[in-house]
This record gives sequence, C-alpha cells and structure tokens, in this order.
Amino acid sequence: MLPSLSLLLFAVGATAAVPYQEYILAPSSRTIRPTAVHLRNGSVSSETALLDSGVPTEGQRHVRLILGPFNSSVTYDFGKNIAGWVNFNTTSDAGTLGVTFSESSLWVSSKACDGTRAQNLDAPMVFNITGAGHYAAPTIMERGAFRYLTLVNRGSDPLSIDDLWVHFTAMPHWADDSLRNYTGWFNSNDEKLNRVWYAGAYTLQMITMDPTRGNAIIDLYSNGTDPDGFLLWSLNTTVANGTSMLTDGAKRDRLAWSADMSVSVPGVAVTTFDLVSAQNAFNAYFDYQFADGHLPYGGFPDSLGTEPSFTYHVYALIGVWNVYHWGGDQSYVDDKWVQWKAAMEWAISQIDDSGLANVTTPLDWLRSGMGGHNIEANTLLFHTLTLGIALARNQNDSATADRWSRLAAGVQSAAMALLWQPDVGLFKDNETTTLAPQDGNTWAVKSGLVTDASQVVQISEALEARWGPYGAPSPEVDAVSPFISSFELETHFIANRTGAGLELMRRMWTDFMLDDPRMTNSTLVEAFTMDGELHYPPYANNATISHAHAFSTGPTSSLMTYVGGIQLLSAAGATWAIVPQVGDLHRVDAGFF
Ligand SMILES: *[C@@H]1O[C@H](CO)[C@@H](O)[C@H](O)[C@H]1NC(C)=O
Ligand SMILES: *[C@@H]1O[C@H](CO)[C@@H](O)[C@H](O)[C@H]1NC(C)=O
Ligand SMILES: *[C@@H]1O[C@H](CO)[C@@H](O)[C@H](O)[C@H]1NC(C)=O
Ligand SMILES: *[C@@H]1O[C@H](CO)[C@@H](O)[C@H](O)[C@H]1NC(C)=O
Ligand SMILES: *[C@@H]1O[C@H](CO)[C@@H](O)[C@H](O)[C@H]1NC(C)=O
Ligand SMILES: *[C@@H]1O[C@H](CO)[C@@H](O)[C@H](O)[C@H]1NC(C)=O
Ligand SMILES: *[C@@H]1O[C@H](CO)[C@@H](O)[C@H](O)[C@H]1NC(C)=O
Ligand SMILES: *[C@@H]1O[C@H](CO)[C@@H](O)[C@H](O)[C@H]1NC(C)=O
Ligand SMILES: *[C@@H]1O[C@H](CO)[C@@H](O)[C@H](O)[C@H]1NC(C)=O
Ligand SMILES: *[C@@H]1O[C@H](CO)[C@@H](O)[C@H](O)[C@H]1NC(C)=O
Ligand SMILES: *[C@@H]1O[C@H](CO)[C@@H](O)[C@H](O)[C@H]1NC(C)=O
Ligand SMILES: *[C@@H]1O[C@H](CO)[C@@H](O)[C@H](O)[C@H]1NC(C)=O
Repeated sequence: MLPSLSLLLFAVGATAAVPYQEYILAPSSRTIRPTAVHLRNGSVSSETALLDSGVPTEGQRHVRLILGPFNSSVTYDFGKNIAGWVNFNTTSDAGTLGVTFSESSLWVSSKACDGTRAQNLDAPMVFNITGAGHYAAPTIMERGAFRYLTLVNRGSDPLSIDDLWVHFTAMPHWADDSLRNYTGWFNSNDEKLNRVWYAGAYTLQMITMDPTRGNAIIDLYSNGTDPDGFLLWSLNTTVANGTSMLTDGAKRDRLAWSADMSVSVPGVAVTTFDLVSAQNAFNAYFDYQFADGHLPYGGFPDSLGTEPSFTYHVYALIGVWNVYHWGGDQSYVDDKWVQWKAAMEWAISQIDDSGLANVTTPLDWLRSGMGGHNIEANTLLFHTLTLGIALARNQNDSATADRWSRLAAGVQSAAMALLWQPDVGLFKDNETTTLAPQDGNTWAVKSGLVTDASQVVQISEALEARWGPYGAPSPEVDAVSPFISSFELETHFIANRTGAGLELMRRMWTDFMLDDPRMTNSTLVEAFTMDGELHYPPYANNATISHAHAFSTGPTSSLMTYVGGIQLLSAAGATWAIVPQVGDLHRVDAGFF
C-alpha cells in the first residue's frame, strides 16, 4: 500500500477545532465523577450510585452509597489519572470519612495513599462530618494525581453519601470548558501510536499546575505523621511566579526541573502550545541565578541548595532556546540574553586542558557516576554551545558566536578522541570506565556531535541491541528511563532507523506504560526496572514513583517531528521542512498551529 500523508500547517492564530478529538483524554468540564467501582471491602451498598453514569437527575429517586461502620470502604476508579480537590455530599449528621488516593492500582488501600516522599505512604484525608451537606477538600489538600479514590468509614455508625466528585485542577489558567482545546493532532493507522501521542499530551496537561501549590516532596508546612504513622501532606509552597507553570510530575515533585522541560516543551508546543507555563517555570531558574553565572539545580533553591548541577544548568539554557524556537518570541530572548550568556560562560569555565568540561558536582537526573569528563555533560555542552552560536548571531554578537564555535569544535574533537569506543559503537561515560551510558550516547547523536553517518547508525544499532522486553536500559541508573529513552527515540529516527524508533514506542510506551494494569492507561510513568517492576533504584519508596511525568512524553514530539516530519528550521517555523519517516505506517495525519 502506498503511504498517504496529510500535513496541515495553519497560520498562528487560527481557531479551527483540531480533528481526532475523540482521542483527547482531557475532561470537558472540571467536575469529574468516577467511572467504575474498583474494590469494595466490608459492608457497602449502592456503591454504583456515585458513578458518573449513576448520578440521579432531578426528580429521580435518590439512591445513596451506604458505607458500613468500622472501616468499610469502596474504591472508585476514574478510568484515567486526574488531579484535584475531592468533594462529597452526605445525608448523615455525624461521622468520620477517610479518603485515600493512588495513581497505580498497586497502592490502593483504605489505610493510606500512595507516596510523595521517601519515608512512608501518605496519610488519608479525614473529614469530620458535623451535619448533612456538602464537604470539600481545603485548597492546600489538592491531590496532584490519582486514578483511584477510596472512601472509608472511620466511624462507628453507617455513613450515607449521595454525591462524590473531584474538581479538576490541572491547567489552572485555562477556562473550565476549554481543557480539550488542543492546537495539534496526530493520527495514523496504528492505534498504539495514536494512544501514546494523546497520553503524552494529557500528561503534559496534568503536570501544568498552579505555582502556589508546588513542591510535594519537601513540605515546609505539614511535617509529622497521623496516629497510624503515615505522612501528613499538603500543597502550600509557591515555586514560581505567574498563574500556571510546567513542572516535572503531577503527584511529585511539582517543581520546575529544567531536564524534564527539555522533553516537555517540544511536546507542549505541538499539543496545546501553552508556552507561557514553560516561561514561568524557566523564570524561576533565572530569578535565582548566582553571581558566578550558575543557575540553581531546580527552580526553587530555597529547598534545593546552591550547589550547581552542570547538566541541569545547561538544560535550563536549552529550555530558553526551545521556548524561542517553538514560539518565536524575540522579546523573550532579548530579555534573557545577558543572563543566558553569563550562564553559558559559567559552563565554559568548566572546560579544562583536555578540551572537555570536567564536572565536579554529582547532581544530575539521579544517575550515578556524574563526574570528570562525562560524555552526557559534554554532549549537552556541545549542544548548548551550538544553540548559543545561533542566539549570539541573533543578538548581533559575532565575536561571541565565533569564540563559542571554536569551543564547540574543541569539545567535539576531544570527545571523539577520548571517549569514543569504535569496537563497541558507543561512547564510554568517562576515561576511567567502559560503561556506555544511554544519556551521553543519545545526546551525542541528538546534539550533532557525531557527524559520521555510519557512526550514528552504529550507536543506534548498539542501543537497540541492549533492549529488554519492557524497553531500553539506562545502565547509568540500572533501570528503564522513559526520560533518556525519549532521546533514544530521536537517535533512531536521526539514524534513519525508523523501524527501531516505532518499535521502541510500541514495546515500551503502549504495551507496557499504557497497557500494564498497574499503570493509569492515560499518563506516562517516570521509571521502572528492566524486568518491568515499578521500582526505581534511586528511590527507597516504590510508592513515590510518579505516574504522570513530564520527561516520559518524548513520543509526542517525536511522532510530530520525525514521523509526521514537520520540522521548524527557524523560530516559529518561519522556515520549515516536511521530511516524514513513516516506516511501516501507511497513513499518517499530523499537524499543529
Ligand atoms: C479490608 O478491610 C480490613 C478491615 O478494615 C482491612 O484489614 C483490609 O486491609 C482491607 N482490605 C483492603 C484491600 O483495603
Ligand atoms: C476531626 O476531629 C478530631 C477529633 O475531634 C480532631 O482531632 C481532628 O483534628 C479533626 N480533623 C479535622 C480534619 O478537622
Ligand atoms: C451536592 O451538593 C452540591 C453543593 O451543594 C449541589 O450543587 C449538588 O447538586 C449536590 N449533589 C446532589 C446529587 O444532590
Ligand atoms: C474551546 O473549544 C470549545 C469547543 O470548540 C469552544 O466552544 C470554546 O470557546 C473554546 N474555548 C476557548 C477558551 O477557546
Ligand atoms: C518542616 O521541616 C522542614 C525541613 O526540616 C523545616 O524547614 C520546616 O520549618 C518544618 N515545618 C514545620 C511547620 O515544622
Ligand atoms: C500555607 O503557607 C502560608 C505561607 O505561605 C502559611 O502562612 C500558612 O499557614 C500555610 N497554611 C497551612 C494550612 O499550613
Ligand atoms: C517572582 O518575581 C520576583 C520579582 O521578579 C522575584 O524576586 C521572585 O524571586 C520571583 N519568585 C519566584 C518563585 O520565582
Ligand atoms: C566514571 O564513570 C563511571 C561509570 O559511570 C563511574 O562509576 C565513575 O564514578 C565516573 N567517574 C567520575 C569521576 O564521576
Ligand atoms: C576534575 O577536577 C577535580 C577537582 O579539581 C580533580 O580532582 C579531577 O582530577 C579532575 N578530573 C579530571 C578528569 O581531570
Ligand atoms: C538520513 O536520511 C537523510 C535523508 O535521506 C540523509 O540526509 C541523512 O544523511 C541520513 N542520515 C543517516 C545517519 O544516514
Ligand atoms: C485504555 O484506554 C483506551 C483509550 O485511550 C481504551 O480504549 C482502553 O479500553 C483502555 N484499556 C483499559 C484496560 O482500560
Ligand atoms: C520495591 O520494588 C522492588 C521490585 O518489585 C522490590 O524488590 C522491593 O522490595 C520493593 N521495595 C520495598 C521497600 O518494598
């Protein structure tokens, strides 16, 4: 069959509704009711009365959930990951209702929620019922992500509940009825890829939040535990200016993390075009730039300290370029240029006689061994210098552009000379090891540091040879990282090994990250082990793994940029190329405006 490909490019400002709306997972209103009963325990009756399909219209006989005393419970399933404030109506005059939340079915329990911190599970919310009527969670008890909600009667008399809903809080700056107003679409003859594209888009909406309810991991206002030893929690920390911000994860950390945004900003650009939330998050980095030019590790140094992370520092610089590249806002670059240049010079100051940066702080995406002449750090440095050359020219600063060109060439030749392993077809992490990391090798291709086409293909083939049944490994963290695997997808597409890129998306993102019953079937998980366990070695507590994570959404931009082939050659697509790579697909329809 001949491939058919439809691509549409609209002028900015077009208001036509996008096609394929039936795939959009975002709700049509902020009031969300559960779609199914997941579990019941103890004395429970009429639990289906509270389902979206069961809520009575006016005039109908009113059936109510009756929860028996002494910890009878019912767990509702919303069918997808959601975020917000729980609300319910009761006809009981007194009692105590507990509410627990979980993203994964693994942590469904009437005793505690899944986790936001390392030490334990999170405590249930407890409502003291002192009269019939409507009860709502206080604003600071917003839960950032959950698919399952359990109601448990902690009292000694039955409780009667006649309505239950969640007020959806993601995308706080968008009108209540406009959460499905995407600016991009993707459709092909492969339903797996279609679902992944829209799960990525919805994940990016779930992680866009009110900056006054940030930082779920380091809770400055609610330390301590409940009587059962579970951690008290609330969301009451302001981590950026503005009314919305792009963060790393919906449940946690709820912070501006620049590395996460290197995946999420291109995804946002081709789905909702909500670049203002990215700008608010990057401002939280630049507002706290240190005198020597270095940017904070995360955009909230109050809790993260002053020690730099070389990679997160350059990721923040890449982020500013991304916002400009996709949005074309010249004033944004003009505003940031002086600080951007100072930050670039700080990174350059780490380059030693070898021609490579010597990284002296361990902070990174929780991978181990980040130090010395590290390949990830140096490929990112090469990439950032390359972007910097373009930005310097944009600012008519040709002396800087020329100097950075020479430095970039030096990083490139030193990396090839010191760290390339021709017999393996992969770079080593640094001179003292043979470990070939996923991060540095994917960035060696994405950054353009490797220019020889046969070496690009060699890297793509060597990475593919390491795959397991659940995806591509990151030996540098001993797990599967959808973050670095998002860059690995690009590596295969850049190598023109389209089949490998599509196969990795299907195997890892659809067959496991969406279809495994422990997942939310709607948002994309942070990490897992090579044998498909929901465990991430850097975390002591498996329950804290985030199931809606920014940096796991790589397929959304890759499907647009490589499979759809819509590439912006200059800011906001003033010049562009259409270079589709459809592999085994015979129909692809993609576009954005
Ligand atoms: C069911 O309720 C009993 C008694 O409260 C409790 O011990 C048990 O853990 C509950 N099971 C689940 C799956 O919540
Ligand atoms: C509920 O009542 C108990 C007992 O009076 C009290 O200790 C607790 O703080 C109250 N909880 C809330 C959320 O108001
Ligand atoms: C629950 O209470 C709210 C607020 O009072 C009200 O608008 C809603 O109609 C009630 N739900 C039902 C099913 O009565
Ligand atoms: C969102 O889309 C709906 C349906 O097309 C439309 O009625 C509404 O005006 C849009 N909202 C915004 C804020 O553009
Ligand atoms: C909670 O702990 C943090 C970190 O140890 C501390 O800075 C903060 O003051 C504590 N907050 C309260 C309310 O005790
Ligand atoms: C929320 O944070 C503010 C400080 O920004 C503090 O004054 C207030 O007490 C906190 N609220 C709660 C309920 O902890
Ligand atoms: C908010 O903006 C002000 C003024 O620019 C700045 O001082 C402050 O640090 C910013 N806050 C955050 C959280 O970025
Ligand atoms: C060099 O790489 C290896 C493998 O990742 C690591 O164990 C080692 O700590 C690294 N060296 C430095 C100085 O970070
Ligand atoms: C990097 O710098 C540190 C601190 O100055 C030094 O101990 C280390 O030997 C250097 N590493 C390399 C590979 O030059
Ligand atoms: C991939 O294909 C394009 C278009 O034919 C070509 O320009 C490019 O050099 C190829 N890349 C590699 C790594 O083979
Ligand atoms: C997962 O979601 C898709 C829609 O995106 C739906 O068609 C499918 O039935 C869901 N699978 C399960 C097991 O719920
Ligand atoms: C976390 O999950 C892994 C893999 O299933 C398991 O081996 C480990 O014991 C779990 N950790 C805890 C603290 O339960």
